[in-house]
Amino acid sequence: MTNAPIDRPAAPAGRRDLPDAPLLAAANGRAPSRRPVWFMRQAGRSLPEYLDLRVGTGMLESCFTPDLVTEITMQPVRRHDVDAAILFSDIVVPLKAAGVDLDIVAGTGPVVANPIRTTADVLALPRLDTEQVAPIAEAVRLLTGELGQTPLIGFAGAPFTLASYLVEGGPSRNHEHTKALMHSDRATWHELMGRLADNTITFLQAQVDAGVDAIQVFDSWAGTLSPVDYREFVKPHTERVLAAMADAGIPRIHFGVGTGELLPDMADVGVEVIGVDWRVPLDTAVERVGPGLVLQGNLDPAVLFADWDTIEVEARRVMDEADRALAAGATGHIFNLGHGVLPATNPDMLTRLVSLIHES
Ligand code: CP3
Repeated sequence: MTNAPIDRPAAPAGRRDLPDAPLLAAANGRAPSRRPVWFMRQAGRSLPEYLDLRVGTGMLESCFTPDLVTEITMQPVRRHDVDAAILFSDIVVPLKAAGVDLDIVAGTGPVVANPIRTTADVLALPRLDTEQVAPIAEAVRLLTGELGQTPLIGFAGAPFTLASYLVEGGPSRNHEHTKALMHSDRATWHELMGRLADNTITFLQAQVDAGVDAIQVFDSWAGTLSPVDYREFVKPHTERVLAAMADAGIPRIHFGVGTGELLPDMADVGVEVIGVDWRVPLDTAVERVGPGLVLQGNLDPAVLFADWDTIEVEARRVMDEADRALAAGATGHIFNLGHGVLPATNPDMLTRLVSLIHES
Protein backbone atom coordinates (compact mmCIF):
# COMPACT_ATOMS: atom_id res chain seq x y z
CA MET A 1 0.00 0.00 0.00
CA THR A 2 2.92 2.36 0.40
CA ASN A 3 6.12 3.61 -1.14
CA ALA A 4 9.23 4.82 0.68
CA PRO A 5 8.77 5.62 4.37
CA ILE A 6 8.91 9.27 5.35
CA ASP A 7 11.54 9.93 7.96
CA ARG A 8 9.73 11.37 10.98
CA PRO A 9 11.01 11.96 14.51
CA ALA A 10 9.97 9.59 17.29
CA ALA A 11 7.12 10.75 19.53
CA PRO A 12 8.27 13.64 21.73
CA ALA A 13 8.40 13.07 25.48
CA GLY A 14 4.90 13.00 26.94
CA ARG A 15 3.13 11.89 23.75
CA ARG A 16 1.98 8.30 23.30
CA ASP A 17 4.10 6.36 20.84
CA LEU A 18 1.74 4.36 18.60
CA PRO A 19 4.01 2.95 15.89
CA ASP A 20 1.55 0.21 14.91
CA ALA A 21 -1.56 2.38 14.66
CA PRO A 22 -2.71 1.97 11.03
CA LEU A 23 -3.66 5.64 10.70
CA LEU A 24 -0.25 6.87 11.80
CA ALA A 25 1.62 4.27 9.74
CA ALA A 26 -0.29 5.31 6.61
CA ALA A 27 0.02 9.02 7.37
CA ASN A 28 3.79 8.61 7.74
CA GLY A 29 4.13 6.69 4.47
CA ARG A 30 4.68 3.28 6.08
CA ALA A 31 2.70 0.09 5.35
CA PRO A 32 -0.30 -0.10 7.71
CA SER A 33 -1.50 -3.46 9.06
CA ARG A 34 -4.91 -2.62 7.58
CA ARG A 35 -6.29 0.23 5.49
CA PRO A 36 -7.16 2.93 8.05
CA VAL A 37 -10.61 4.49 8.06
CA TRP A 38 -12.29 7.24 10.05
CA PHE A 39 -15.08 9.68 9.23
CA MET A 40 -15.23 13.44 9.40
CA ARG A 41 -18.14 14.26 11.76
CA GLN A 42 -18.17 10.66 13.02
CA ALA A 43 -19.26 12.03 16.40
CA GLY A 44 -22.59 13.78 16.40
CA ARG A 45 -26.15 13.56 15.33
CA SER A 46 -25.97 10.28 13.41
CA LEU A 47 -25.52 8.55 16.78
CA PRO A 48 -28.51 8.10 19.12
CA GLU A 49 -26.14 7.90 22.10
CA TYR A 50 -24.88 11.39 21.15
CA LEU A 51 -28.40 12.80 20.96
CA ASP A 52 -29.17 11.28 24.39
CA LEU A 53 -26.07 12.79 25.96
CA ARG A 54 -26.65 16.25 24.49
CA VAL A 55 -30.19 16.69 25.85
CA GLY A 56 -30.24 19.97 27.81
CA THR A 57 -26.64 20.98 26.97
CA GLY A 58 -25.80 23.48 24.21
CA MET A 59 -23.24 22.63 21.54
CA LEU A 60 -20.63 25.16 22.72
CA GLU A 61 -21.21 24.35 26.38
CA SER A 62 -20.55 20.70 25.50
CA CYS A 63 -17.28 21.64 23.77
CA PHE A 64 -16.00 23.29 26.98
CA THR A 65 -16.95 20.37 29.27
CA PRO A 66 -14.03 17.90 29.28
CA ASP A 67 -16.02 14.85 30.48
CA LEU A 68 -18.65 15.38 27.78
CA VAL A 69 -16.03 15.96 25.08
CA THR A 70 -14.32 12.74 26.13
CA GLU A 71 -17.48 10.65 26.10
CA ILE A 72 -18.75 12.05 22.76
CA THR A 73 -15.33 11.56 21.14
CA MET A 74 -15.26 7.93 22.32
CA GLN A 75 -18.75 7.04 21.07
CA PRO A 76 -17.93 6.45 17.38
CA VAL A 77 -14.68 4.68 18.28
CA ARG A 78 -16.59 2.14 20.39
CA ARG A 79 -19.43 1.75 17.93
CA HIS A 80 -17.65 1.65 14.56
CA ASP A 81 -14.09 0.42 15.32
CA VAL A 82 -12.67 3.35 13.36
CA ASP A 83 -8.89 3.82 13.27
CA ALA A 84 -8.92 7.31 14.77
CA ALA A 85 -10.87 9.46 17.16
CA ILE A 86 -11.41 13.09 16.22
CA LEU A 87 -11.68 15.48 19.11
CA PHE A 88 -15.27 16.60 19.62
CA SER A 89 -15.08 20.36 19.25
CA ASP A 90 -15.81 22.95 16.58
CA ILE A 91 -13.83 25.34 14.42
CA VAL A 92 -15.38 28.32 16.23
CA VAL A 93 -14.34 27.10 19.72
CA PRO A 94 -11.10 29.17 19.77
CA LEU A 95 -13.04 32.28 18.71
CA LYS A 96 -15.59 31.71 21.46
CA ALA A 97 -12.80 31.05 23.96
CA ALA A 98 -11.10 34.32 23.02
CA GLY A 99 -14.33 36.20 23.72
CA VAL A 100 -16.03 36.60 20.32
CA ASP A 101 -19.81 36.78 20.78
CA LEU A 102 -21.08 33.83 18.74
CA ASP A 103 -23.24 30.73 19.05
CA ILE A 104 -23.74 27.48 17.15
CA VAL A 105 -27.36 27.25 16.07
CA ALA A 106 -28.69 23.73 15.43
CA GLY A 107 -29.42 23.17 11.76
CA THR A 108 -27.65 26.43 10.78
CA GLY A 109 -24.12 26.44 12.16
CA PRO A 110 -22.02 29.22 13.69
CA VAL A 111 -23.73 32.63 13.99
CA VAL A 112 -21.67 35.71 14.94
CA ALA A 113 -23.44 38.52 16.84
CA ASN A 114 -21.37 41.38 15.38
CA PRO A 115 -19.91 40.54 11.96
CA ILE A 116 -16.42 41.89 11.24
CA ARG A 117 -16.52 44.33 8.32
CA THR A 118 -14.18 47.28 9.08
CA THR A 119 -10.56 47.85 10.03
CA ALA A 120 -11.70 48.80 13.53
CA ASP A 121 -13.61 45.51 13.81
CA VAL A 122 -10.49 43.60 12.81
CA LEU A 123 -8.30 45.46 15.27
CA ALA A 124 -10.79 44.61 18.03
CA LEU A 125 -10.61 40.86 17.34
CA PRO A 126 -9.30 39.35 20.59
CA ARG A 127 -6.13 37.29 20.79
CA LEU A 128 -6.49 33.74 22.15
CA ASP A 129 -4.55 32.83 25.29
CA THR A 130 -3.69 29.19 25.96
CA GLU A 131 -5.51 29.23 29.34
CA GLN A 132 -8.75 30.09 27.55
CA VAL A 133 -8.72 26.65 25.90
CA ALA A 134 -7.61 24.77 29.06
CA PRO A 135 -10.85 22.66 29.07
CA ILE A 136 -10.06 21.45 25.54
CA ALA A 137 -6.50 20.53 26.57
CA GLU A 138 -7.93 18.73 29.59
CA ALA A 139 -10.26 16.75 27.31
CA VAL A 140 -7.28 15.75 25.13
CA ARG A 141 -5.43 14.48 28.22
CA LEU A 142 -8.46 12.48 29.37
CA LEU A 143 -8.85 11.02 25.89
CA THR A 144 -5.26 9.90 25.47
CA GLY A 145 -5.76 7.98 28.70
CA GLU A 146 -8.94 6.29 27.42
CA LEU A 147 -8.13 5.58 23.80
CA GLY A 148 -5.58 2.79 24.18
CA GLN A 149 -3.89 2.29 20.80
CA THR A 150 -6.31 4.47 18.84
CA PRO A 151 -4.84 7.81 17.71
CA LEU A 152 -6.54 11.09 18.51
CA ILE A 153 -6.83 13.72 15.76
CA GLY A 154 -6.92 17.32 16.93
CA PHE A 155 -8.14 20.01 14.58
CA ALA A 156 -8.76 23.65 13.84
CA GLY A 157 -10.43 25.72 11.17
CA ALA A 158 -8.09 27.40 8.69
CA PRO A 159 -7.97 31.21 8.74
CA PHE A 160 -10.10 31.63 5.58
CA THR A 161 -13.01 29.48 6.78
CA LEU A 162 -12.97 31.24 10.16
CA ALA A 163 -12.81 34.63 8.41
CA SER A 164 -15.81 33.69 6.29
CA TYR A 165 -17.96 33.03 9.38
CA LEU A 166 -16.75 36.21 11.08
CA VAL A 167 -17.24 38.50 8.09
CA GLU A 168 -20.51 37.02 6.83
CA GLY A 169 -21.87 36.62 10.36
CA GLY A 170 -22.87 33.02 9.66
CA PRO A 171 -22.97 30.37 6.94
CA SER A 172 -22.88 31.81 3.45
CA ARG A 173 -23.49 30.54 -0.05
CA ASN A 174 -21.63 33.28 -1.95
CA HIS A 175 -19.22 34.68 0.66
CA GLU A 176 -19.84 38.13 -0.84
CA HIS A 177 -18.86 40.25 2.17
CA THR A 178 -15.70 38.21 2.67
CA LYS A 179 -14.65 38.60 -0.96
CA ALA A 180 -15.54 42.29 -0.98
CA LEU A 181 -13.28 42.87 2.03
CA MET A 182 -10.35 40.89 0.63
CA HIS A 183 -10.41 42.67 -2.71
CA SER A 184 -11.22 46.21 -1.57
CA ASP A 185 -8.98 46.47 1.52
CA ARG A 186 -6.05 44.10 1.25
CA ALA A 187 -4.26 45.46 4.32
CA THR A 188 -7.29 44.92 6.56
CA TRP A 189 -7.84 41.45 5.06
CA HIS A 190 -4.28 40.36 5.76
CA GLU A 191 -4.48 41.81 9.28
CA LEU A 192 -7.61 39.72 9.91
CA MET A 193 -6.06 36.58 8.45
CA GLY A 194 -2.85 37.12 10.42
CA ARG A 195 -4.76 37.42 13.69
CA LEU A 196 -6.81 34.31 12.89
CA ALA A 197 -3.63 32.41 12.02
CA ASP A 198 -2.14 33.41 15.39
CA ASN A 199 -5.23 32.16 17.25
CA THR A 200 -5.29 28.95 15.20
CA ILE A 201 -1.64 28.28 16.05
CA THR A 202 -2.35 28.81 19.77
CA PHE A 203 -5.35 26.45 19.61
CA LEU A 204 -3.48 23.72 17.72
CA GLN A 205 -0.39 24.06 19.93
CA ALA A 206 -2.54 23.57 23.04
CA GLN A 207 -3.89 20.34 21.54
CA VAL A 208 -0.41 19.18 20.51
CA ASP A 209 1.03 19.91 23.96
CA ALA A 210 -1.84 17.95 25.55
CA GLY A 211 -1.03 14.92 23.36
CA VAL A 212 -3.00 14.70 20.09
CA ASP A 213 -1.44 12.25 17.62
CA ALA A 214 -2.27 14.10 14.37
CA ILE A 215 -3.89 17.38 13.37
CA GLN A 216 -6.34 18.25 10.63
CA VAL A 217 -6.81 21.83 9.44
CA PHE A 218 -10.23 22.33 7.85
CA ASP A 219 -10.49 25.00 5.16
CA SER A 220 -14.01 23.88 4.39
CA TRP A 221 -15.05 26.89 2.31
CA ALA A 222 -11.78 27.60 0.45
CA GLY A 223 -13.34 25.97 -2.60
CA THR A 224 -15.31 29.16 -3.18
CA LEU A 225 -12.06 30.89 -4.28
CA SER A 226 -10.20 30.94 -7.59
CA PRO A 227 -6.62 29.62 -7.47
CA VAL A 228 -5.29 33.14 -8.04
CA ASP A 229 -7.23 34.54 -5.07
CA TYR A 230 -6.37 31.51 -2.93
CA ARG A 231 -2.65 32.09 -3.54
CA GLU A 232 -2.76 35.80 -2.72
CA PHE A 233 -5.29 35.99 0.10
CA VAL A 234 -5.24 32.63 1.86
CA LYS A 235 -2.26 30.41 1.19
CA PRO A 236 0.45 32.41 3.03
CA HIS A 237 -1.62 32.38 6.22
CA THR A 238 -2.42 28.66 6.07
CA GLU A 239 1.26 28.01 5.35
CA ARG A 240 2.23 29.90 8.48
CA VAL A 241 -0.17 27.82 10.60
CA LEU A 242 1.20 24.54 9.27
CA ALA A 243 4.82 25.69 9.49
CA ALA A 244 4.26 26.41 13.19
CA MET A 245 3.18 22.77 13.63
CA ALA A 246 6.09 21.27 11.66
CA ASP A 247 8.20 20.56 14.73
CA ALA A 248 5.41 18.71 16.54
CA GLY A 249 6.47 15.51 14.75
CA ILE A 250 2.87 14.45 14.04
CA PRO A 251 1.05 14.14 10.70
CA ARG A 252 -0.64 17.26 9.38
CA ILE A 253 -3.84 16.81 7.33
CA HIS A 254 -5.49 19.54 5.26
CA PHE A 255 -8.99 19.41 3.79
CA GLY A 256 -11.56 21.56 2.02
CA VAL A 257 -14.75 21.07 0.02
CA GLY A 258 -15.08 21.75 -3.72
CA THR A 259 -11.34 22.26 -3.92
CA GLY A 260 -10.57 20.31 -7.11
CA GLU A 261 -9.02 23.38 -8.76
CA LEU A 262 -7.13 24.27 -5.57
CA LEU A 263 -5.66 20.84 -4.80
CA PRO A 264 -2.15 21.63 -6.11
CA ASP A 265 -1.98 24.71 -3.87
CA MET A 266 -3.71 23.20 -0.83
CA ALA A 267 -1.32 20.23 -0.96
CA ASP A 268 1.60 22.65 -1.04
CA VAL A 269 1.03 24.43 2.31
CA GLY A 270 3.19 22.04 4.36
CA VAL A 271 1.24 18.83 5.01
CA GLU A 272 1.75 15.08 4.97
CA VAL A 273 -1.89 14.22 4.13
CA ILE A 274 -4.29 15.95 1.75
CA GLY A 275 -8.04 15.38 2.07
CA VAL A 276 -9.99 15.12 -1.17
CA ASP A 277 -13.75 15.62 -1.51
CA TRP A 278 -15.89 13.21 -3.54
CA ARG A 279 -15.81 15.29 -6.74
CA VAL A 280 -12.23 14.36 -7.65
CA PRO A 281 -11.29 10.65 -8.01
CA LEU A 282 -8.19 9.86 -5.95
CA ASP A 283 -6.24 8.73 -9.03
CA THR A 284 -6.93 12.16 -10.56
CA ALA A 285 -6.07 13.89 -7.28
CA VAL A 286 -2.57 12.36 -7.26
CA GLU A 287 -1.92 13.86 -10.68
CA ARG A 288 -2.90 17.27 -9.33
CA VAL A 289 -0.94 17.17 -6.06
CA GLY A 290 2.06 15.19 -7.33
CA PRO A 291 3.78 12.20 -5.69
CA GLY A 292 4.93 11.96 -2.09
CA LEU A 293 1.69 12.75 -0.26
CA VAL A 294 -0.85 10.60 1.54
CA LEU A 295 -4.44 10.92 0.27
CA GLN A 296 -7.50 10.94 2.53
CA GLY A 297 -11.04 10.35 1.29
CA ASN A 298 -13.36 10.28 -0.50
CA LEU A 299 -16.71 8.43 -0.56
CA ASP A 300 -19.65 10.76 -1.22
CA PRO A 301 -21.45 11.03 2.16
CA ALA A 302 -24.81 10.97 0.36
CA VAL A 303 -24.06 7.47 -0.98
CA LEU A 304 -24.59 6.20 2.59
CA PHE A 305 -28.32 6.77 2.01
CA ALA A 306 -28.39 4.09 -0.72
CA ASP A 307 -28.80 0.32 -0.14
CA TRP A 308 -25.79 -1.60 1.20
CA ASP A 309 -24.89 -3.20 -2.17
CA THR A 310 -24.58 0.25 -3.74
CA ILE A 311 -22.48 1.51 -0.83
CA GLU A 312 -20.17 -1.48 -1.23
CA VAL A 313 -19.73 -0.89 -4.98
CA GLU A 314 -18.93 2.78 -4.40
CA ALA A 315 -16.54 2.06 -1.50
CA ARG A 316 -14.67 -0.50 -3.61
CA ARG A 317 -14.44 2.03 -6.42
CA VAL A 318 -12.83 4.53 -4.02
CA MET A 319 -10.35 1.86 -2.86
CA ASP A 320 -9.51 0.95 -6.48
CA GLU A 321 -8.91 4.59 -7.31
CA ALA A 322 -6.77 4.90 -4.18
CA ASP A 323 -4.71 1.87 -5.22
CA ARG A 324 -4.12 3.44 -8.63
CA ALA A 325 -3.09 6.65 -6.86
CA LEU A 326 -0.60 4.64 -4.78
CA ALA A 327 0.83 3.12 -7.95
CA ALA A 328 1.17 6.68 -9.30
CA GLY A 329 3.19 7.93 -6.33
CA ALA A 330 0.82 8.65 -3.45
CA THR A 331 2.50 7.39 -0.27
CA GLY A 332 -0.62 6.15 1.52
CA HIS A 333 -4.40 6.10 1.67
CA ILE A 334 -6.65 6.89 4.63
CA PHE A 335 -10.25 6.01 3.83
CA ASN A 336 -12.79 8.70 4.75
CA LEU A 337 -15.86 10.34 3.32
CA GLY A 338 -15.53 13.27 0.92
CA HIS A 339 -17.07 15.53 3.61
CA GLY A 340 -18.70 15.01 7.00
CA VAL A 341 -21.25 12.35 7.97
CA LEU A 342 -24.72 13.76 7.28
CA PRO A 343 -26.90 13.88 10.42
CA ALA A 344 -29.61 11.50 9.08
CA THR A 345 -27.09 8.78 8.12
CA ASN A 346 -27.92 5.28 9.40
CA PRO A 347 -24.95 4.60 11.72
CA ASP A 348 -25.14 0.84 10.99
CA MET A 349 -24.02 1.61 7.44
CA LEU A 350 -20.92 3.31 8.82
CA THR A 351 -20.12 0.28 10.99
CA ARG A 352 -20.51 -2.05 7.97
CA LEU A 353 -18.38 0.27 5.86
CA VAL A 354 -15.55 0.14 8.42
CA SER A 355 -15.60 -3.69 8.34
CA LEU A 356 -15.57 -3.68 4.54
CA ILE A 357 -12.57 -1.35 4.40
CA HIS A 358 -10.71 -3.41 7.00
CA GLU A 359 -11.42 -6.70 5.21
CA SER A 360 -10.51 -5.42 1.74
O1 CP3 B 1 -16.83 14.19 14.71
C1 CP3 B 1 -16.17 15.16 14.32
O2 CP3 B 1 -15.84 15.33 13.13
C2 CP3 B 1 -15.65 16.16 15.34
C3 CP3 B 1 -16.49 17.22 15.58
C4 CP3 B 1 -16.61 18.44 14.65
C5 CP3 B 1 -17.70 19.31 14.77
N1 CP3 B 1 -17.47 20.40 13.97
C6 CP3 B 1 -18.83 19.10 15.68
C7 CP3 B 1 -20.12 19.73 15.35
C8 CP3 B 1 -15.74 18.96 13.68
C9 CP3 B 1 -14.46 18.39 13.13
C10 CP3 B 1 -16.30 20.20 13.26
C11 CP3 B 1 -15.64 21.09 12.31
C12 CP3 B 1 -16.44 22.14 11.65
N2 CP3 B 1 -17.41 22.95 12.18
C13 CP3 B 1 -16.25 22.54 10.29
C14 CP3 B 1 -15.23 21.96 9.38
C15 CP3 B 1 -15.66 20.62 8.88
C16 CP3 B 1 -16.75 20.66 7.84
O3 CP3 B 1 -17.81 20.09 8.12
O4 CP3 B 1 -16.52 21.25 6.79
C17 CP3 B 1 -17.18 23.57 10.03
C18 CP3 B 1 -17.36 24.28 8.70
C19 CP3 B 1 -17.89 23.83 11.23
C20 CP3 B 1 -18.96 24.85 11.44
C21 CP3 B 1 -20.20 24.16 11.87
N3 CP3 B 1 -20.48 23.80 13.18
C22 CP3 B 1 -21.26 23.69 11.06
C23 CP3 B 1 -21.37 23.89 9.57
C24 CP3 B 1 -22.17 23.03 11.91
C25 CP3 B 1 -23.42 22.26 11.52
C26 CP3 B 1 -24.67 23.04 11.70
C27 CP3 B 1 -25.86 22.10 11.75
O5 CP3 B 1 -26.50 22.04 12.79
O6 CP3 B 1 -26.12 21.44 10.73
C28 CP3 B 1 -21.66 23.12 13.20
C29 CP3 B 1 -22.27 22.53 14.41
C30 CP3 B 1 -21.67 21.24 14.82
N4 CP3 B 1 -20.33 21.01 14.93
C31 CP3 B 1 -22.37 20.08 15.19
C32 CP3 B 1 -21.40 19.12 15.54
C33 CP3 B 1 -21.62 17.73 16.06
C34 CP3 B 1 -23.87 19.93 15.25
C35 CP3 B 1 -24.37 20.62 16.48
C36 CP3 B 1 -25.36 19.80 17.30
O7 CP3 B 1 -25.21 18.56 17.41
O8 CP3 B 1 -26.21 20.43 17.91
